[in-house]
Amino acid sequence: MKSFYLTTAIDYVNGSPHLGHAYEKVLADVIARFRRLMGDQVFFLTGTDEHGQKVQQSARARGIAPQQFADEVSAEFRALCTKLHISNDDFIRTTEERHKRVVRDLLQRLFDKGEIYRAEYRGFYSTRQEQFLQEKDRNPDGSWPEIFGEVTEILEPNYFFKLRGYQDWLVDFLKKNESFIFPRYRQKQVLEFLTEPLNDLCISRPRERLEWGIPLPFDENFVTYVWFDALVNYYSAVVDKPGLWPADFHVIGKDILVPPHAVYWPIMLHAAGLPPPRALLVHGWWTQRGAKMSKSTGNALNPLDLVTEFGVDAFRYFLVREMNVGQDSDFTREQFLVRYNSELANNLGNLVNRTLNMTTRFAGGVVPAPVDSAEEEPERALKELWKTTHTEFIQLCEGFQFHLALERLMVFLTAINGHIELRAPWKLAKSTEPGAAALLPTVLATMAEALRLGAALLQPVMPSTTEKIQAALGHAPAAAWRDELEWGTRLTGAKVSPGLVLFPRPEPEKK
Ligand code: MSP
Repeated sequence: MKSFYLTTAIDYVNGSPHLGHAYEKVLADVIARFRRLMGDQVFFLTGTDEHGQKVQQSARARGIAPQQFADEVSAEFRALCTKLHISNDDFIRTTEERHKRVVRDLLQRLFDKGEIYRAEYRGFYSTRQEQFLQEKDRNPDGSWPEIFGEVTEILEPNYFFKLRGYQDWLVDFLKKNESFIFPRYRQKQVLEFLTEPLNDLCISRPRERLEWGIPLPFDENFVTYVWFDALVNYYSAVVDKPGLWPADFHVIGKDILVPPHAVYWPIMLHAAGLPPPRALLVHGWWTQRGAKMSKSTGNALNPLDLVTEFGVDAFRYFLVREMNVGQDSDFTREQFLVRYNSELANNLGNLVNRTLNMTTRFAGGVVPAPVDSAEEEPERALKELWKTTHTEFIQLCEGFQFHLALERLMVFLTAINGHIELRAPWKLAKSTEPGAAALLPTVLATMAEALRLGAALLQPVMPSTTEKIQAALGHAPAAAWRDELEWGTRLTGAKVSPGLVLFPRPEPEKK
């Protein structure tokens, strides 16, 4: 069995989870579930990024220890995973011993190889915010914004990683591995970034200013700073699991591609004698009225509210159906409701209820055997459509085009509903025409089988819905997904439930 190691970014614990975090987890989960269904041995990692100035400050503001603060927020992210039915195999926290040990080992290894050196760091420092500022933090007129208070230029000793020495190697690596980054146009952006010379990377902060970090093994007066700690999580989680490194995919947002994931990470690994990950999957942002959703902008949506209101599967469906992986999407409640009502409630929900209801009314609640000789063009057309639908669905998922895969599936469900309208079982049941007696069971069997297949395709995105539909159809799924996707007569004789409400009408919005 092929192993497939997949990760998400690890979330900062200085704020509660929002829709952007939820999306990344759902996207990665859909990939993980899809790969498992395709027969891979998946290892799926997510977690939290817990060190740094902001956590130290937030904890201090609340008068608690940073570890307690990190424990609380990390637990929120973990709870989010449960609530969203994320099938992660591990959850790593950067404050865990297993992680700190690997970070320190890696730093020591690089230090011993001469890849890390000590030098003076020069920068503009805000005492009020307790942080170094960057040129981009300045006002357009060159002054520093009010929130930073007094800003002074300071010099302090720090440790640097020799990034510059690996610039040519990285350019060469990216040129040789054209599909390292998905979508591909992002790889070009990285190469463009690499046309300017890289600076060596400052990887430390003195402990007297930042306590909440991992001490450098070769100088305990300093802690590692940001990326040397965070990125290593992908490796530290599997260091004791042979065969998993290098990761197959790191799923990340576009804000942390350049330079951390596309430049620092491959170089850090290469310098340490480890292979870089196989690929990066870079998604866009959820925005609100065009602005990136984030805690600091104050426009962050709480994903749990939507889950409570519409159910976890409708939430997952919307995120994956709406977002073209790589591009940004604006979140509006109106758009959510449009998809919920038209695609889930009216198309899928209706189909499920009609199928169960008609099987109950016209076949005593047991899926009848189709009569082959009664099959005509409409049944054959539906079977043909299934063939192209499921082949294309799989190809599209393999290329991360989940929004299009789901669109194809919706077309198939619409066609099943169309088939029901056309064949009108309620008329066939009353008809005295000679063919009607054989056509009725054939039509009922066709609609149930088509629904079973459509539900099977939905599984990576809406696992609970698939299970509910299978249970309502009295169907125990095949062990292998591929077998489950074959049109056949698996349902013949299955006892169905009389009805199933999957997508209740939402309450009218409170003003
Ligand atoms: N801790 C770092 C990542 C370290 S990975 C070794 C970090 N954390 S974060 O909490 O700010 O973001 C975590 C992930 O959520 C990132 O991939 C980021 O792109 C993603 N998102 C945060 N806001 C987002 C949106 N509004 N929309 C979609 N995803 C975005 O960065």
